[in-house]
Amino acid sequence: MPEIEKQIHKSHLNRRKFLNRLAFSLLGGTGLLTLLGSLTLPFPRVFKESFRFKVGRVIDFPVNTFTFIPEKNVFILRQRKSIQALSATCTHLGCVVQSDQQGFLCPCHGSRYDREGNVQCGPAPRSLDWLKVTIAPDGQIVVNMHQKVKSDEFLRV
Ligand code: FES
Repeated sequence: MPEIEKQIHKSHLNRRKFLNRLAFSLLGGTGLLTLLGSLTLPFPRVFKESFRFKVGRVIDFPVNTFTFIPEKNVFILRQRKSIQALSATCTHLGCVVQSDQQGFLCPCHGSRYDREGNVQCGPAPRSLDWLKVTIAPDGQIVVNMHQKVKSDEFLRV
């Protein structure tokens, strides 16, 4: 075999070796990343406390008023000596209800709730959820979206 052909043959081999190593490296890397990703599945990256959040101090809320917290879709009801939290998520298909004179109205399919969150009409199958409220050491109101309470349960302030 002439010298030039040998070199071409050799460079093809080197190129083939290189491509093989590259392919195996990519496969190995992908496999490793997939394995690591699947190992983290039991530990979702949701902050444990994301369902519990602070909404402000008691004095931030006017008395006898439902104050809407848009980032959390929750109403805070402050009365003279109590604080309550009402979910603004419609129990039909999850739209955000709006407060009005009579209570709450869902703009999606027209469910209506009274001021206690009870269904008055519409497709909503059940009342709005009242949520557990506590006070943090720094004096802020903490709402727990995962802990439902009865409509007559409140935090005394
Ligand atoms: S989502 Fe509220 S009535 Fe349908």
